[in-house]
Amino acid sequence: MSKKVTLAILGAGARGGCYAAYVKEFPEQVQITAIAEPDDFRRKKMAEAFQVPEDRCFRSWEDFVKQPKMCDTVAICTQDHMHEEPAILCARLGYHILLEKPMAPTAEACKRIVAAVKEAGVMMAVCHVLRYTSYTKLLKNILASGEIGDIVSIQHLEPVGYWHQAHSFVRGSWRNEAESSFMLLAKCCHDVDWLRGVMGKKCTAIHSFGTLRHFRASEKPAGAADRCLDCPVAVESNCPYSASKIYFRDRFIKGETDWPVNVLAPEVNANSLQDALENGPYGRCVYQCDNDVVDNQVVNMVFEDGSTASMTMTAFTFHAGRYTRIFGTRGEIYTDSSKITIRHFLDNSERVVDSNVANDGGIQTGHGGGDFGIMENFVGAVAQNDPSLILTGVDETLESHLMVFAAEESRKKQTVCTL
Ligand SMILES: NC(=O)c1ccc[n+]([C@@H]2O[C@H](COP(=O)([O-])OP(=O)(O)OC[C@H]3O[C@@H](n4cnc5c(N)ncnc54)[C@H](O)[C@@H]3O)[C@@H](O)[C@H]2O)c1
Repeated sequence: MSKKVTLAILGAGARGGCYAAYVKEFPEQVQITAIAEPDDFRRKKMAEAFQVPEDRCFRSWEDFVKQPKMCDTVAICTQDHMHEEPAILCARLGYHILLEKPMAPTAEACKRIVAAVKEAGVMMAVCHVLRYTSYTKLLKNILASGEIGDIVSIQHLEPVGYWHQAHSFVRGSWRNEAESSFMLLAKCCHDVDWLRGVMGKKCTAIHSFGTLRHFRASEKPAGAADRCLDCPVAVESNCPYSASKIYFRDRFIKGETDWPVNVLAPEVNANSLQDALENGPYGRCVYQCDNDVVDNQVVNMVFEDGSTASMTMTAFTFHAGRYTRIFGTRGEIYTDSSKITIRHFLDNSERVVDSNVANDGGIQTGHGGGDFGIMENFVGAVAQNDPSLILTGVDETLESHLMVFAAEESRKKQTVCTL
């Protein structure tokens, strides 16, 4: 039996809580032995749930890294601009690192993290969880079997979802590039990394367009107020992005208090929600926020053998699951990230494989099982001292991040970027 891995959670927010849920389910594999989190409610809640002693609970990652190494691994689950320093310092202290994506908001910072990890000789898995889904494993096996021949092109859609865009990228933590990251990095570094992994070869050039088309002041309906609770009924009731609709009518009154509602208030109840909608950032009119990240973007890529891929990210979708078409020399694949339909040119036959991805919000199924998959592999890699269980090494992870930075440079400079 392999050893039990010890873990410090740095940032006990949504993602920290998600990895903690794995620990709850598999206590024989991994144990949380330290927490760093400034929010008293979150820190105490996690400490109680995992019986972490007081002297192992820190108010910040800064306080945590002042201590000598106290466990095997850290999960760095702070916000995007707060990854570089803890990652570098934790690597130097000898911790193996589970680092939330994106690695960091600039290419230079990503390179510094990779250099520090290599120098320290520790393992690092960046949470590109899509690589760890059972669906992706199934798809990769189909592609490796040669069933559709060589991949010539891929068409990929990342449908963000209208309310998710309003929540995270207009009102929420990832709305403003200077405060977090640009949209492609925050939302689609997953997708670019996944496309790189499915293609299985290097991208040589990349090009992108993208705009903030809708969530801006010029689109504000006549008569709308700056906060949804102050909006005239006739205007508010006609707005799909109304905060009252998204958090209250569509969720809270139906008994839903998990994400995204619990982002508004740690302890969700009618009063805390009312207060958040009246006074907090999530009660703001979507046309009157300080958001600047794009709400639609296209990215075109060419790979070293001349194959191509195109990706569309758009806010304006009902559902959020990704769709992909893969065109090969002997057949094509159409997939909704669960069901894979394969059509063969030779005999015009069709075969359907379903990875049966459930979506109940639990650790076993979050991100199509990817949240579970990355924890299982990362914990296994540390327990067995086997870095090969981490599906993408730091060089390939850096490579896909550099594709994302190049795409953004292309969008901003209206040019094609070579890699
Ligand atoms: N892998 C994925 O699929 C995925 C999905 C969503 C978000 N993310 C990424 O995960 C990261 C965290 O996102 P989240 O949604 O959990 O955010 P969050 O805001 O819910 O959690 C971040 C936590 O960090 C804490 N924090 C702030 N300063 C700190 C400090 N100095 N020391 C320790 N903790 C500190 C905050 O109080 C908060 O609880 C982000 O980088 C985000 O982009 C990844």
